[in-house]
Amino acid sequence: MRTIAVAAISVDGYLTKGTNPNPSSWTSEEDKNHYHNMLHRYDVYLMGSKTYQVAKNALPANAHKIVMSHNVSEQPKAAGVTFTDKSFRDILSSFEGKTSEILVLGGASVFHQLLEQKLIDEAYITIEPVRNGSGVQLSTHGHYFEDKGFTLSEEKQLNNKGTLLKHYILKK
Ligand SMILES: NC(=O)c1ccc[n+]([C@@H]2O[C@H](COP(=O)([O-])OP(=O)(O)OC[C@H]3O[C@@H](n4cnc5c(N)ncnc54)[C@H](OP(=O)(O)O)[C@@H]3O)[C@@H](O)[C@H]2O)c1
Repeated sequence: MRTIAVAAISVDGYLTKGTNPNPSSWTSEEDKNHYHNMLHRYDVYLMGSKTYQVAKNALPANAHKIVMSHNVSEQPKAAGVTFTDKSFRDILSSFEGKTSEILVLGGASVFHQLLEQKLIDEAYITIEPVRNGSGVQLSTHGHYFEDKGFTLSEEKQLNNKGTLLKHYILKK
């Protein structure tokens, strides 16, 4: 089974801007289309509870959402949503044979833990040509994924404003 991360960051490495938790105010239309296509390509998503709170209304209803939380018993019940505090390795093992791919939606906390454990196989990272200056930061430099053992497999210009989509694959 493969795990695929998807995210949009500013050139200075932020997933959010200032105190606004929703990235849609600064991501391009082209990235929004790419994100929408990614969501529809996969049936199972993994994310942290903070990302879920922001993204939940925009996620396809029929996809299975696995949401990391230390407060599983306090979370509201929702169809197709599993709150869990199991280890990432156990979660991914429990899907072996049931699905071939899981899309990881973030945020920074979940990405960092999975990357440290080498549990991300691929990443689609959009870099928007904006400087957010503050917010939730994924990385302080542009070679974060290379440092984590990934190879840049493809780089694509999404528009003429400078939005770049980078596709990384973990070197095995
Ligand atoms: N630009 C983008 O593409 C993009 C992508 C993803 C997210 N974001 C944004 O990033 C922000 C969230 O990022 P974040 O790093 O602050 O938070 P996050 O990773 O989305 O969620 C963190 C929360 O997940 C739970 N969690 C994480 N690891 C856990 C573990 N090992 N076991 C149990 N629970 C665990 C905890 O929830 P509890 O507090 O419930 O215990 C923790 O507080 C949001 O504003 C979101 O919109 C942007």
